[in-house]
Amino acid sequence: MSQVKEPVTILEARAVTHFYASGLVRSRRAVPALNSVNLQVYDGETLGLVGESGSGKTTLARILVGLIRPSQGMVLLNGQAILRRTTRREKRLRRRLCQIVFQNPHSSLNPYLNIETSMSEALASAGVPRSAREPEAVRLLASVGLDKDVLSRRPAAFSGGQKQRIVLARALAVSPRVLILDEPTASLDLSVQAGILNLLLDLRRQYGLTYVLISHDLHVVGYMSDRIGVLRRGRLIECAEAERFLAGPERPYSRELLGL
Ligand SMILES: Nc1ncnc2c1ncn2[C@@H]1O[C@H](COP(=O)(O)OP(=O)(O)OP(=O)(O)O)[C@@H](O)[C@H]1O
Ligand SMILES: [Mg+2]
Repeated sequence: MSQVKEPVTILEARAVTHFYASGLVRSRRAVPALNSVNLQVYDGETLGLVGESGSGKTTLARILVGLIRPSQGMVLLNGQAILRRTTRREKRLRRRLCQIVFQNPHSSLNPYLNIETSMSEALASAGVPRSAREPEAVRLLASVGLDKDVLSRRPAAFSGGQKQRIVLARALAVSPRVLILDEPTASLDLSVQAGILNLLLDLRRQYGLTYVLISHDLHVVGYMSDRIGVLRRGRLIECAEAERFLAGPERPYSRELLGL
């Protein structure tokens, strides 16, 4: 991210609090999965989010992309509030701006569909005409390092790393501005993780993407991010420039995470 230009906010959480509904009536003492989170994501940056298991990272990811509505507060994508009641058109527009990639590519791909069908569905939702879908799918697959002969195969034919590449190609089919990456390499062998992280860096440059990168692995987040935020028990306790953060974060908990 350029240091000179004033950052432009593309995605924002304002006072987001979230309680998961449980079988029991929510008591006053119920602990929210997210508690008054304010977060701004700048256009073109990679914002890393770290925090221990259960700190609310996935909940925040799902709220940012609009998969779940927060109990309180709001999310703004490209200056537009994600409203409680959205039309199909608004949902489609939002999906074109912001996509989410989950940890486990096996569950993101329909095992019964070959890759061509999966890619075509995504391209159709982006309004790409039928005749242009195959060449566009080939181009997208090439940009994630895959050959066009993957098109005729089903997900079972691929390794975890290859599947995550396919998931990325499909996410890119709608030409999004923002990708929310929830532990994108956590399910992969160590040997393929670096390949995917470097691919993400390439794609960000090539497509001018903005990333929210969630990981419990501080090395991953430190390597990839412009800024780093720390979630603890549903609260965003710190958010700072990556360099400054890695050199010595303000909060004792963050220092602990870094082993300082
Ligand atoms: N569907 C759900 N229903 C009820 N509670 C949930 C649900 N999903 C998450 N929670 C709870 O909300 C809190 C935050 O969970 P979340 O999955 O956001 O954490 P996380 O930081 O992503 O953890 P991890 O690193 O293990 O993925 C946890 O206490 C969790 O038990
Ligand atoms: Mg999670």
